[in-house]
Amino acid sequence: MPHFDDHPAARDHLSVDTEPGSADPQTLRDVAVRVAVSAAAHASARRPQVFATVGHDVRPTAAGEEAVDTKSTPTDPVTVVDTETEVLIREALASLRPGDAILGEEGGGDSGPEGIRWVVDPIDGTVNFLYGIPAYAISVAAQVDGVSVAGAVVDVAGGSVYSAARGHGATLHEADGSVHTLRCTAVTEVSMSLLATGFGYAPERRKRQGELIAALLPRVRDIRRIGSAALDLCMVAAGRVDAHFEHGLSPWDWAAGSLIAEEAGAVVRLPSAESSSADGDVTVAAAPGVAVALDDVLSQVGALDPIPV
Ligand code: IPD
Ligand code: CA
Repeated sequence: MPHFDDHPAARDHLSVDTEPGSADPQTLRDVAVRVAVSAAAHASARRPQVFATVGHDVRPTAAGEEAVDTKSTPTDPVTVVDTETEVLIREALASLRPGDAILGEEGGGDSGPEGIRWVVDPIDGTVNFLYGIPAYAISVAAQVDGVSVAGAVVDVAGGSVYSAARGHGATLHEADGSVHTLRCTAVTEVSMSLLATGFGYAPERRKRQGELIAALLPRVRDIRRIGSAALDLCMVAAGRVDAHFEHGLSPWDWAAGSLIAEEAGAVVRLPSAESSSADGDVTVAAAPGVAVALDDVLSQVGALDPIPV
């Protein structure tokens, strides 16, 4: 299990003054990293308590079954760990940044995007978290007037911390202390591009998403469905995929990861900060050498049109 209690990313982001009210992107990034790393410590420690592990076979315990509820559809889960982790994040932000607004996947938010607002996904990739597939993340972003200016995404199972501040680049801190500046791939052909995507929870949206994949698959190198949009966007930044697109993401899915991708050179197309998943707007993040051509291909197959539900 990765150790987050003394993670090098949190140590590196201790130095800057976290003056309440400051809108400085580097200050906001420090807060995002520290809050997301401490949330990852909780989620990482809680998973084996809620879900039993036998060898490599990870199944929910009886307690785990009770710890899982559903949201928009029977296939859209929320676990007790999602709820607990968001509470911790809200408490940490209230202490470090009193007065800032918060929008969270589980607890919602009651203000608009004006001013400084923290946008939080306590566990992105909840289905993976449930099944023990090691691709789930904590995502914490700071937006100013609806534009992401700082963000952190923690790959909980991998022990890695992705972060960015607008105008200051994007970084990956590994658990072993190594630090990498993130850059997108140098791909120049859509036909050679590895394209990450994801599917919503509503069956009618999935049907259309499947049709779009059928149209795109012959035109790209291959498709990946990792199961966490926040990690997909970080993988664009890290050059592990060339691009990501998905319809119907919520602001907490893209707020941190899209900035990390953008600061690594990606060209992004985002829903508005006021949008909700039901609007079905598309999110795209692409390596700069294929961004224009990919936009053309997505437009030709109808993938830039929203898929509302
Ligand atoms: C989901 C993941 C998934 C994406 C879905 C999201 P959740 O978030 O990001 O990759 O395809 O659209 O809802 O439910 O695990 O927080
Ligand atoms: Ca999510």
